[in-house]
Amino acid sequence: MLKIKNIWVKYGAIAAVRDLSMTIGQGDFVTVLGSNGAGKSSTINAISGRVRKEKEKSLEFFPILKEKLHEKARSLSGGQQQMVAIARGLMACPEILMFDEPSLGLSPIIRQQLAQKIREIHQEGTTIILVEQNARLGLMIASYGYVLENGELSMQGRTDDLMRDENVKKAYLGV
Ligand SMILES: Nc1ncnc2c1ncn2[C@@H]1O[C@H](COP(=O)(O)OP(=O)(O)OP(=O)(O)O)[C@@H](O)[C@H]1O
Ligand SMILES: [Mg+2]
Repeated sequence: MLKIKNIWVKYGAIAAVRDLSMTIGQGDFVTVLGSNGAGKSSTINAISGRVRKEKEKSLEFFPILKEKLHEKARSLSGGQQQMVAIARGLMACPEILMFDEPSLGLSPIIRQQLAQKIREIHQEGTTIILVEQNARLGLMIASYGYVLENGELSMQGRTDDLMRDENVKKAYLGV
């Protein structure tokens, strides 16, 4: 479980993301939607920084693992394998993939193939955060959505609920 609590992202005096909180469970498929400049990229950059820090922290807990990081699990002793398992558990979200507008500039057909691929990766158990300006795509393949407006969370919910929401329809789906 990855709990992001009250994050702020500032560029000098400008706060691009204000007081944003998110909870991302193991195996979730979350989409982050919003218009140009809403703060989507700033948000996932902050999240990936957080995830990296967590990983570094859990490796520091068992220094031997740093040396063994690139060796195959087979070459680890039983105790070391156990440490790996514990370190994995300590990481907030060991297997998390983030995409920032992967569909940008792709043709409709390639976009569909990409969407299918991301779905498959998710079905194999990877946690996914997908940033999309193409709200239709994000809402179609993710199961939970966060909508950003001017650096603030304006709405969140299950994607099938968001898809039916009148405000979302008007602002992001063009219907
Ligand atoms: N390196 C930076 N320095 C200063 N301001 C920045 C920087 N990066 C982003 N911003 C500003 O922060 C705000 C949010 O930008 P961000 O890139 O997070 O938006 P976004 O939702 O990803 O937009 P887009 O859909 O266009 O990619 C914008 O007003 C942008 O101008
Ligand atoms: Mg962006």
